[in-house]
Amino acid sequence: MRLLVCGGAGFIGSNFVRYTLERYDDEVVVLDKLTYAGNLENLREFESHPRYSFRLGDIADPEIVASAMDGADAVVNFAAESHVDRSILDPSGFITTDVFGAYILLEAARRAKVTRFLQVSTDEVYGEVIGEASREDALLRPRSPYSASKAGGEHLVQAYHATYGLPTLITRGSNTFGPYQYPEKLIPIVITEAIDRRPIPVYGDGQQIRDWLFVEDHCSGIDLVLRQGLPGEAYNVGGGNLRANLELVERILDLLGRSRTLIEHVPDRPGHDRGYSIDSSKLLALGWTREPSFDAVIEATVRWYADNEPWWRRIKNSDDYQTYFQSNYGDRESLAARR
Ligand code: NAD
Ligand code: TYD
Repeated sequence: MRLLVCGGAGFIGSNFVRYTLERYDDEVVVLDKLTYAGNLENLREFESHPRYSFRLGDIADPEIVASAMDGADAVVNFAAESHVDRSILDPSGFITTDVFGAYILLEAARRAKVTRFLQVSTDEVYGEVIGEASREDALLRPRSPYSASKAGGEHLVQAYHATYGLPTLITRGSNTFGPYQYPEKLIPIVITEAIDRRPIPVYGDGQQIRDWLFVEDHCSGIDLVLRQGLPGEAYNVGGGNLRANLELVERILDLLGRSRTLIEHVPDRPGHDRGYSIDSSKLLALGWTREPSFDAVIEATVRWYADNEPWWRRIKNSDDYQTYFQSNYGDRESLAARR
């Protein structure tokens, strides 16, 4: 099959391209705008792979999308603005990519009559969840500009299934971690700041709960839904590893042999969701299995960042990263001075 992977140069997308090329005979076309989060280094090993090709372009551009989708059997859409803190600083790009971009892809997909359209979504669309894990039929109550834009994209996907019969699928993954994650998200920022013995910013009391999912398990979940999911359905993809942020940060510091005195409690994120929790039994019933040892995958992730310093140092030295860091956390000196 010919697969169009939108946003394939980002964190989960590039891991998914690797997952697919290593297991199947499929042809993979990546369409990616290469925003600050897109990085062709993530796909370097496939540059001359006979079943891989790359198209530079925006999912919100109908002409590029129509041309990239030509001959595609299936579409998997990872392309999104994906970071909550950036959505708080400026929501506009989230609306143009996560909502309008999804609409442009759906329009092209129905014209091209693709046989599968999988929208990669997030457990954050359920909003703040403390207590009972959300099942797929729960109401969507997003609370950040990021999760609201992802929910908007999802609603369009469901509408294209109901109205035009497009064979759509939705996956709602939980907080994902692993190799090639841009160092603005919690786990890679903690690892890389800790390696440099810098203050680790923990929002508020650090007791917020997330369900941590290893990226390879996220990819296998998406792959299973793509091949065996029921059109029109959504599937939760949860890690089954509920952890408070502070506990997770302490674990990473211990693994790196760094002092817990590096932890710096900084002002809480506005509208910070205290918890997420999803029930993955629908996907498990489809035959999905996931890595049973959280320790093993968190250790492997810490090791990957320790072994791949040039990859993340180039990002952290970039102007975009420095500007973002300053806007979100203030300058490094004042973060350190708070200790
Ligand atoms: P990421 O930010 O690392 O990558 C996003 C990719 O999309 C980048 O390669 C970027 O260049 C590309 N992109 C952005 N806007 C584009 C546009 N307009 N046109 C074409 N390409 C564009 O994100 P990620 O963490 O890999 O997440 C991928 C998807 O998975 C997103 O849809 C996200 O909402 C979802 N998700 C992420 C997580 C997580 O914990 N990271 C969890 C659940 C779901
Ligand atoms: P993040 O990785 O940004 O994912 P999300 O907000 O999509 O869940 O953050 C995970 C958790 O870690 C979240 O509760 C916010 C918290 N956090 C911090 O405490 N400090 C930080 O510097 C970052 C980036 C996140």
